[in-house]
Amino acid sequence: MRLALLGCGTVGSEVVRLLHGQAADLAARIGAPLEIAGIAVRRLGRDRGDLPVDPTLFTTDALGLIKRDDVDVVVEVVGGIEPARGWLVEALRAGKSVVTANKALLAEDGAALHDAAAEGGGDLYYEASVAGAIPLLRPLRESLHGDRINRVTGIVNGTTNFILSAMDATGAGFAEALEEATELGYAEADPTADVEGFDAAAKAAILASLAFHTRVGAADVHREGITEVTAADVASAKAMGCTIKLLCIAARGADAAGREAVSVRVHPAMIPLGHPLASVGDAFNAVFVEAEAAGPLMFYGRGAGGAPTASAVLGDVVAVSRNRLAGVRSPSESAYADLPVRPMGEALTRYHISLDVADRPGVLEAVAGVFARHDVSIATVRQGPAGGGAAGRGEDADLVIVTHVAPDAALAATVGELRGLDIVRSVASVLRVEGGL
Ligand code: NDP
Ligand code: HSE
Repeated sequence: MRLALLGCGTVGSEVVRLLHGQAADLAARIGAPLEIAGIAVRRLGRDRGDLPVDPTLFTTDALGLIKRDDVDVVVEVVGGIEPARGWLVEALRAGKSVVTANKALLAEDGAALHDAAAEGGGDLYYEASVAGAIPLLRPLRESLHGDRINRVTGIVNGTTNFILSAMDATGAGFAEALEEATELGYAEADPTADVEGFDAAAKAAILASLAFHTRVGAADVHREGITEVTAADVASAKAMGCTIKLLCIAARGADAAGREAVSVRVHPAMIPLGHPLASVGDAFNAVFVEAEAAGPLMFYGRGAGGAPTASAVLGDVVAVSRNRLAGVRSPSESAYADLPVRPMGEALTRYHISLDVADRPGVLEAVAGVFARHDVSIATVRQGPAGGGAAGRGEDADLVIVTHVAPDAALAATVGELRGLDIVRSVASVLRVEGGL
């Protein structure tokens, strides 16, 4: 079985090490030895340390390598949309099997890859694209195919989970926690994809597509990052027995017209400390799947890093290699349900709202009236002197309101109207609340 490896960076170099270190076991498991036919990189002269590989295998001609007749399996660990899309479509159309970790490409144009795989007859596997080492996509696409998945809730970005965990543990602000994540090598030099939620949104799209047998792309996912989360939000969550996590939530539900639909969103949210995802700390990932017959299932592990991600890549390489030797391919994409994706405004959620208000008679009534006008039910109200210090009548007060479940659009409109009230000095923070309280 001959592999073309595209990319030899953080993940690719660990793929090479695993292929070398476990060559005999892999050959025994597959039924044939695995050999690297070539490795495409950007810089031939880059120092690759003590990588156990013949240096003459490196090339900058990825397309030429893919097209070689002696290549059976193409492993793509380069990332980005182009040229990766062109390479993989070419490989799949030519009947080669493809293993990729490229969540950005799968979420942007997974359809092009699946269509090319169907045309060429090879396999398309991408376990490493979501939650690194955690075996998650295979269970969704195979083990749970006899069941009906209703909801997937996950922490799928290690960098942001590290930052939020550090803010929770030390009371640090976002910028300080990001600096620590960068120093420890979790966050990239440009952390935008992580902290603005793009990375998690791509993974959410992949999860939703598999869970609901529907093509969901990155553009269908409502996305908010963690850059606006403050130390005060974290403290407020703690005071309520909660913690803040960047969640990806994909759920079934009826749309405004009563048709079955899905909603897919990524945003920071408060979850109670008793929630299974609350104890997921550091750069770990975890995904909570709720299926009709199976009930709740929890998947936990390392969602990033060279070796953990390479483990998932190699698992896929073994699977597609076995298939090729047996002359079979795995079932193709399952998108038969083709459910509509609901707009964020229809998503049912709860809000935790912190207001700085004038401390005088009638203020609570005015604030409650805004919620009532938008048909949003208040669950709890907590009032204290502004800033937590001693204050008398006529000064400001902190008002913390937690709502019952309501459509996101109604909650957003409520907050909008609150901002316009003269008794509301400021809306200090607005956070969604998930997982009961
Ligand atoms: P790196 O940036 O570390 O490595 C990228 C590799 O691709 C490098 O070897 C680089 O070459 C090569 N490359 C870049 N552009 C080209 C090009 N035009 N032609 C040929 N080779 C090229 O990325 P990672 O290993 O971190 O990530 C790879 C993929 O895995 C991405 O899709 C990422 O999203 C995904 N992933 C990564 C995880 C992680 O923890 N790092 C976790 C899960 C998924 P050179 O070495 O010469 O620079
Ligand atoms: N940047 C990603 C993360 C890498 O922090 O989770 C794994 O996909």
